[in-house]
Amino acid sequence: MRSSDQAHRAFDERSEGSDPFEGATGLLFEQAMAQTRMAVCLTDPNHPDDPIIFCNKAFQKLTGYDSSEIVGRNCRFLQGPDTDQKQVTKIREAIREESVAVVELLNYRKDGSSFWNTLHLGPIYDESGNLKYFFGSQWDVTDIHQSRAEERHAKAMAREVSHRLKNVFAVIGGIVNITGRSMDARDVARKINERVQALGRSYEPTLDDAALGTIHVGQAIRSVLSPYDPEGDRFVFTGNGVRTEPNAISAIGLTLHELATNATKYGALSNKEGTVEVSWKHAKDRLGRNSLEIDWKESGGPRIEAAPVSDSGGTGFDIAETLLSHAHGVLERHWEEDGLRAQLVLPIANR
Ligand SMILES: Cc1cc2nc3c(=O)[nH]c(=O)nc-3n(C[C@H](O)[C@H](O)[C@H](O)COP(=O)(O)O)c2cc1C
Repeated sequence: MRSSDQAHRAFDERSEGSDPFEGATGLLFEQAMAQTRMAVCLTDPNHPDDPIIFCNKAFQKLTGYDSSEIVGRNCRFLQGPDTDQKQVTKIREAIREESVAVVELLNYRKDGSSFWNTLHLGPIYDESGNLKYFFGSQWDVTDIHQSRAEERHAKAMAREVSHRLKNVFAVIGGIVNITGRSMDARDVARKINERVQALGRSYEPTLDDAALGTIHVGQAIRSVLSPYDPEGDRFVFTGNGVRTEPNAISAIGLTLHELATNATKYGALSNKEGTVEVSWKHAKDRLGRNSLEIDWKESGGPRIEAAPVSDSGGTGFDIAETLLSHAHGVLERHWEEDGLRAQLVLPIANR
């Protein structure tokens, strides 16, 4: 005889005599179980193969089986070809140790469709401490499972894109260097490369959450500026978790790169004690649009008599300003005695 047949028979013999939920407590239990939307069942471990002796309506609704098809069987009838056996082993061990367990496993309905079941089970004892039942509650978490799987997929894709992007920037760097060397234009090649790499750095730390559709401004700023502050004591960053569209990052990255390059040559980063305060926040611009405001404030550098002439002839800022104008942003620079003040304002759609 198959073990499920034995269980059926065992249950029939047992239930013939008495109602397992006698008295007021039993009545309350049954009524409460009838009302809850959580699928619930009780099994009897004192009978062969631990058969189900009770299941509520929600259990029947979840599984598609009628109570008469459920009672008397072991709960494993819900398992199928893709049920993870590691989870089943966890349940088996919890039952053997009479402990509480929560597992998530794939189960199957009567119509063959599958669902992710968060199963919570634990022992119930009588007044003398003897094991009487196992209690199980089943919760359909298919939706949550699906969104977690999508999130994992998006993260894996973002990592892959990040990896490829790093490769692309490395290859561009190589091409620029080799071309520069072969055409005797190493200096030009170096400048192009610095800008290209700054662009790469501004995207690098943010790709992991690019799946969200927006990028963390603070992370991009820190990453672009990191090579200009190897000791980590020249920049003071203040900002919140404001985010912006990925497109704006190129303009921000290149502008900050130019500001930092100039600061290294003529400004606060050209001596040993100067510092640069970089702050960013979400604000409204003159036209009342949501915008991102980045402030750059140098101090402690050489005293400024007049605006310095960029050794690049302004090419770096020309590129940055072209990108900024595409993003409808503006850059303002003021040379004050104790250092350069710059403000970058970009309209943004998302915070
Ligand atoms: C109270 C209770 C509820 C259970 N509910 C489920 C369930 O919803 N789905 C499932 O796949 N297994 C469930 N099980 C686990 C199986 O009944 C069985 O214990 C498991 O498959 C391990 O035993 P086996 O290796 O003999 O199959 C439940 C067990 C108990 C005691």
